[in-house]
Amino acid sequence: MKIQRYWRCALFAAWGLATLAPAAAATPTRVPDTIEQRAAACIACHGREGASTNAGYFPRLAGKPEGYLYNQLLSFRDGRRHNSDMVHMVRHLSDAYLREMAHYFAGLDLPYPRPATTSDASQQTLQRGKALVFQGDAARGIPACAQCHGQALTGVQPGIPALVGLPRLYIASQLGDWLSAGRHALPPDCMAEVGRKLTTADVNAVAAWLALQPMPADPKPAAALPGPLPMPCSAMGN
Ligand code: HEC
Ligand code: HEC
Repeated sequence: MKIQRYWRCALFAAWGLATLAPAAAATPTRVPDTIEQRAAACIACHGREGASTNAGYFPRLAGKPEGYLYNQLLSFRDGRRHNSDMVHMVRHLSDAYLREMAHYFAGLDLPYPRPATTSDASQQTLQRGKALVFQGDAARGIPACAQCHGQALTGVQPGIPALVGLPRLYIASQLGDWLSAGRHALPPDCMAEVGRKLTTADVNAVAAWLALQPMPADPKPAAALPGPLPMPCSAMGN
């Protein structure tokens, strides 16, 4: 945590410089305001060019659907998601600026880290996670995760993110946020509806199973859903 705090200070200094740069246009030492320069403030946490690693907590940004990234940046700015580091990063930024950042990271095509190969979860837990992902739990009104996140779990354009290539800790923490009603999208907020139905044992099982899955040969988000959405989602424009 100490390291994180150090980075936060250093970053906010750098970020401040970059965003203030246009005002200092007359001075010869102006920091160039390019998209790479703006993105540099994100890398210390999200990894080189937003590629992240799977050992820690920070989610990858590179190659995620542009609409998804944009929605998240708006959500941090407008109070639907609450991570304090992220809120500080984006709270004064315009829609156009955030759209540009989303576009930049969505367009990066970088190798994925290898998934974890061992887990402390039991075989039974892993099987339960896999069943929820591909079959859901009809008796409890839980659709299969793959119905929305794609059969390959690489996400679906324009608004649904991948479930593979994320750190286990991050997956579990986001699912926990839906359980405690701490993460929201604009209505209809389908993921919040699904997330609310999971138990902590479900969360543990899906996070453990997902973290062991390798990226498929084509890691890009699917262009279209595998079938009709099981419920309306604002992220998909309905
Ligand atoms: C000080 C560390 C830090 C910095 C710097 C940072 N982030 Fe983040 N970011 C985080 C954390 C932590 C999360 C996960 C938040 C949560 O738990 O909801 C996150 C989440 C995100 C998400 C949501 C990802 C997802 O899969 O839902 C996006 C998008 C994002 N950051 C973009 C950016 C951009 C763009 C920048 C640079 C302008 C940036 N971040 C800088 C720490 C950081
Ligand atoms: C009805 C469609 C739907 C179903 C079913 C669904 N999801 Fe989602 N999921 C979404 C949408 C849409 C988002 C983006 C939410 C947002 O924009 O805040 C999302 C986001 C997520 C995220 C956040 C990823 C990140 O990078 O922050 C996780 C984790 C997740 N879903 C896990 C699951 C799991 C596990 C299941 C199955 C138990 C599941 N989802 C089922 C639609 C769905």
